[in-house]
Amino acid sequence: MHIHRLEKIWLMFGFAMLVVFLVVLGIGAYAFGMGTPTSHHHSVDPSKVTETAPFDQPGIRHVEGSVYEANLIAYAFGYNPDKMEVPAGATVRFNVTSTDVVHGFQIPGTIVNFMVVPGEINHVEYTFDEPGEYLVLCNEYCGIGHEYMYTTIVVN
Ligand code: CUA
Repeated sequence: MHIHRLEKIWLMFGFAMLVVFLVVLGIGAYAFGMGTPTSHHHSVDPSKVTETAPFDQPGIRHVEGSVYEANLIAYAFGYNPDKMEVPAGATVRFNVTSTDVVHGFQIPGTIVNFMVVPGEINHVEYTFDEPGEYLVLCNEYCGIGHEYMYTTIVVN
């Protein structure tokens, strides 16, 4: 009778552990499910960048009115595309990612300056009021070709 009670306690204990396990699993799945929609918009597999929209078609895309979208891929050592053109007054929404290491994205003379982290889609919006040729430079040391890494935005 005594042994039987002990078995019962162990059975209850085992059942309780199973419940705890399922709850933890459920919370994990729920948290993962909650995290997916946001991370989907802000992350990209670095090895699949060139086949993932919008980076499968890098460059300038007209959104509406004076709003443009610029999708760029940073790599050692350059940006794709290496030249873009927008009209003066254009508000450009930059989406930039890297296929390899951390790069920079700085437009001297403007407030645009951010890190391009592989696996992430880095966003910034900027309105180009003044016509001219804007140089985009990498300001994060990324290797031997770092100082030759740039792209150009022509505003006219
Ligand atoms: Cu890319 Cu420095």
